[in-house]
Amino acid sequence: MDPLRTHPRPPPQPQPFAALVQARRSIRRFTDQPLPEGLLAQLLAQARLAPSGANLQPGEFIHLQGDARARLSAALVEAFRQGAQEPEDYSYFPQPMPMHLRRRQVAAAQALYRALGAARDDRAARDAQFERNFRFFDAPVALLVTIDARMGSGCYMDLGMCLYGLMLAATAAGLGSCGIGAIASYPGLVRRTLGLDAGQRVVCGVALGYADGDAAENEVRTARLPVSDFLRVMG
Ligand SMILES: Cc1cc2nc3c(=O)[nH]c(=O)nc-3n(C[C@H](O)[C@H](O)[C@H](O)COP(=O)(O)O)c2cc1C
Repeated sequence: MDPLRTHPRPPPQPQPFAALVQARRSIRRFTDQPLPEGLLAQLLAQARLAPSGANLQPGEFIHLQGDARARLSAALVEAFRQGAQEPEDYSYFPQPMPMHLRRRQVAAAQALYRALGAARDDRAARDAQFERNFRFFDAPVALLVTIDARMGSGCYMDLGMCLYGLMLAATAAGLGSCGIGAIASYPGLVRRTLGLDAGQRVVCGVALGYADGDAAENEVRTARLPVSDFLRVMG
C-alpha cells in the first residue's frame, strides 16, 4: 500500500526562495549597527552570481565612506534644495508617463507618505523624506552603482539582475536595502564631486543596513499586478 495514500501529506512548507522574495521590501530607515567585517564583500559576490549576456558582468559598485560620502550627500541635498536640473545619463521612466503607469507610481508614493503621516499637501514633509534619498537614508552602507557608458541597454538588464541579487542576498543575511534612483538625477554632479571618469554612467544608489524595526516607513507594502495582467498565452 502506498504510505502517501494512507497518511495525509504534511501541508506544503514555504519554499526558502518564496519566503525570501516575500520578505524583501524597500527599507528606508536603518539602525546604526555596522555590518560585520567582510559581509558586504560576501553579499556582492553572491549578487555577481547573477547571469549576464556573454557573462560580461557589467557595472561597478562604489562603497562610499567618510569624506567622499559626506561631500556627495551635501552636494546632492544642496542641488535638490536649489531645484537644480541636469540631463540624466540614461532615461529611467517613460516621458511622459502614461496614465496607467502614473497610477502605479502615485500608489507607491502615497503608500510611503501615508505610512509617514505626511499629508498630500505637506510639501515640507515630502521634501524632507525625498532629501533622505540623497543621504542614502542614513544607512550604514552607501553604494553608488555605475556602468561603463559604452555598454548597451541589455547590460542595464544584467546589472538589474545583479542588483536584485544583492537585495535578496541582503534579505537572506537579515539586512534591509533600498535602491535609490533619485541619485541618477544628478549624474554630472556625482562625477564632479567624486572625481569619476566621464565614461562612468551613474545608474543608482543602494542603501544597506539593519532595518529599524520601529520605523513607520519600513512598514510600507506595495502591490503587484496579478500574473494574468502581464502573461499572455499564445498558441
Ligand atoms: C533601481 C531602483 C531605484 C529606486 N529608487 C528609489 C528612490 O530613489 N527612492 C525611494 O524611496 N525608493 C526607490 N526605489 C524603491 C521602489 O520605490 C520600490 O522598490 C517599489 O516601490 C516597490 O516596493 P518594494 O521594494 O518595497 O517592494 C528604487 C527601487 C529600485 C529597484
